[in-house]
Amino acid sequence: MVWAPIGSLVWGTGVVIGVLLMYVQRAWRGSWAGGLSESAARTLGAIKATGADAPPARWGARAPFRWELSRRGVACADRPPAPAAAVPVKSVEPREQLPTPMQLAAAIRRRRSVFPQHYTGETVPPASIAAMLEAADWAPSHGRTEPWRFVVLGPRGIHAMQDVTEAATRRLLARDPFELQDALERLRRDRAHRWAPVSHMIAICMRRRAVPSKLMPEWEELAAVACAVQNMHLAACALGVAGYWSSWHAAQRDSPEMASFLGLSAAAGDRCLGFFVCGVPRPGALAAGRAARRPLDSGKVEWRE
Ligand SMILES: Cc1cc2nc3c(=O)[nH]c(=O)nc-3n(C[C@H](O)[C@H](O)[C@H](O)COP(=O)(O)O)c2cc1C
Repeated sequence: MVWAPIGSLVWGTGVVIGVLLMYVQRAWRGSWAGGLSESAARTLGAIKATGADAPPARWGARAPFRWELSRRGVACADRPPAPAAAVPVKSVEPREQLPTPMQLAAAIRRRRSVFPQHYTGETVPPASIAAMLEAADWAPSHGRTEPWRFVVLGPRGIHAMQDVTEAATRRLLARDPFELQDALERLRRDRAHRWAPVSHMIAICMRRRAVPSKLMPEWEELAAVACAVQNMHLAACALGVAGYWSSWHAAQRDSPEMASFLGLSAAAGDRCLGFFVCGVPRPGALAAGRAARRPLDSGKVEWRE
């Protein structure tokens, strides 16, 4: 009778000592990362993989994570950061009318890229642009970083952006005068004709550290921005606005001139991902866009039990 509780006590103490010894041994070998939460391990992985500046460690991070960060030379705050200026948060009206599943599916199927030759040249009402941006803002993002940034360019902004494209072209092709002349000629022609009926160009940007304390994998931030663009495009079609995602001229889009024009920090990893080009559609243009997909069972989807 007396021996049973004493036996349990001895056994329990042994287990506790064993666990403590295991932790001491792991700490000694510096292998804490194996015991980190998924997101902590990912943050450390990102620091290691990209060589990017370490993010300011989150106060209250688990002790092993903070220890591992300091071991890798990452400063770790001892106190919570001072509260940032309060940003008002929006929420959804719970009794909002929702489209039926069939209406939603139709809206998705009927989203079309509509190109400038099908625009009238009229101005898209700013309220429609605002509604498109509002739709974009409800995209998902891992860690709620909301990394999308948009710069809405009206006629003067579009001209300024084209000037920037031209300036970057001059620099990029400075060593090849013939190719430069050709490229500038093409840009001038496009400016006078191709882009003339465009109402707005919305620069699609990804802020790498929209939340300074979070460094999510770049692909997740890019994916979140793409979700935002899809929302914007769906809203545009529903509002009767024609538009499409233009990648723009790759080298000029990625140039320091463009980053500076759009207020992006290339050093911090911000990216411009092109422009959402939009305008007022000619009658029937929204419905006329080529709408076809290869079937899902052509190898895009595999079902498994
Ligand atoms: C990331 C991305 C970049 C694109 N860039 C261009 C582009 O530079 N030029 C263009 O004509 N279309 C571009 N598009 C639009 C595609 O041409 C269009 O989505 C495709 O033709 C399918 O048509 P739909 O959008 O009507 O379904 C882009 C689309 C995406 C998603």
